[in-house]
Amino acid sequence: MIPSSRNRQLHLSAFLAPYGHHVAAWRHPDVDLAQSLFAAYRHQAQVAERACLDAIFFADNVALSGTPTLEPLTLLSALAAATTHLGLVGTVTTTYNEPYHVARKVASLDAISNGRAGWNLVTSDNAAEAGNFGRTQHVPHAERYARAREFHDVVDGLWGTIAQDAYVADKAGGVLFDPAAIRPLDHHGAHFDVAGPLNVRPSPQGRPVVVQAGSSDAGRALAAATADVVFTAQPTLASAVAFYRDMQARREREGRGPLRIMPGIYAVVGSSEAEAQDKYAQLQDLIDPKAGLALLGRMIGNFDLSGYPLDGPLPELPLTNDGQRSRQQLLTSIAQGEDLTLRQLMQRVAGGRGHFTVIGTGAQVADQIQTWFEAGACDGFNLMAPVLPGGLEDFAHHVVPELQRRGLFRTAYTGTTLRGHLGLTE
Ligand SMILES: Cc1cc2nc3c(=O)[nH]c(=O)nc-3n(C[C@H](O)[C@H](O)[C@H](O)COP(=O)(O)O)c2cc1C
Repeated sequence: MIPSSRNRQLHLSAFLAPYGHHVAAWRHPDVDLAQSLFAAYRHQAQVAERACLDAIFFADNVALSGTPTLEPLTLLSALAAATTHLGLVGTVTTTYNEPYHVARKVASLDAISNGRAGWNLVTSDNAAEAGNFGRTQHVPHAERYARAREFHDVVDGLWGTIAQDAYVADKAGGVLFDPAAIRPLDHHGAHFDVAGPLNVRPSPQGRPVVVQAGSSDAGRALAAATADVVFTAQPTLASAVAFYRDMQARREREGRGPLRIMPGIYAVVGSSEAEAQDKYAQLQDLIDPKAGLALLGRMIGNFDLSGYPLDGPLPELPLTNDGQRSRQQLLTSIAQGEDLTLRQLMQRVAGGRGHFTVIGTGAQVADQIQTWFEAGACDGFNLMAPVLPGGLEDFAHHVVPELQRRGLFRTAYTGTTLRGHLGLTE
């Protein structure tokens, strides 16, 4: 079911990171390493809001992964005070958390931001997290997803335990909350027993937006049943259209309204194509092979590749149980399909990590975005800027105005909640 593009508008989020998405971003001359992370993120959030983006998004691992960063919900609560309309999506794992805590924290961010919160539900793709929670082994893939499904249902159930109209605030009558509008959850399942109710009131958007980013069969099934938005890594138009059709078909079978599907886009924007190509090459030249190989090892399923010859082929690797199954399959098929050496695959992953990569002027990038959008490959994109804030500013200054000129993207916010920005009705 390809959505007609008549009056359809794009949804855009900015996937923020300490210095940028390229593995060598921190070495870029424009990156100010002396600035505090919070000051850097506040500036990035304000650039995103001025460009009328739907949301900003922070990934997370409950273990050191690359460079130190900040816990997303804590960070987003502070950024809520520095923005007014921008959606605020943070990652929280279901593998090393308890549902009541997560329901409460995300609902609190939603209340603090007046209905702009989103939860990127992940099952933890970094095996190192296990050691921080008393485990020697990471939880296996299938078990992670089974727990995630029940975890989601408990969180969603808790979000519904206090009705929108529970807050009576009747001083004369002596009724602050209508007890009839607050109910227990009484959940008893394979992984959790949770009494409820939650102790945080619902925000104007009712429920925070749920995002999912799994693409394996288990990941797709969970997303179709639980998510409002799906992030995904799709390198080509054909793979993106196939993923889109499969996900919306699964969604229909769940009897729920359409998902918003937003693949990642690694966009290198210049005022000329040559300038954009130079920007791309400049970052590639800064790659430290050791860091590049470590990133590739993480993305391809948490394997240590340091012992293999860089100019040899990608070694045979077992199906990952610890990490990202779909990403392992994607990167393996790229390497085998194009006969890449380990070094070449490492260089390919260093920036876009297997996501759709576009290098060009504002108009050229807008062309590609429009092509994917009108071909039914997506409802929008999750922007991965190579370097921050520069790559986000380039996108905001050169690509967004072009999309607005073509009537493909909003020129001003019409709503105040994230659900409103995304046009989600259920
Ligand atoms: C845009 C995007 C962001 C993601 N962010 C995180 C994250 O912050 N933490 C995490 O553990 N996994 C993250 N993932 C990984 C997914 O949650 C999931 O593990 C991965 O896509 C593989 O899923 P699969 O095993 O179902 O194929 C992200 C994936 C994508 C595409």
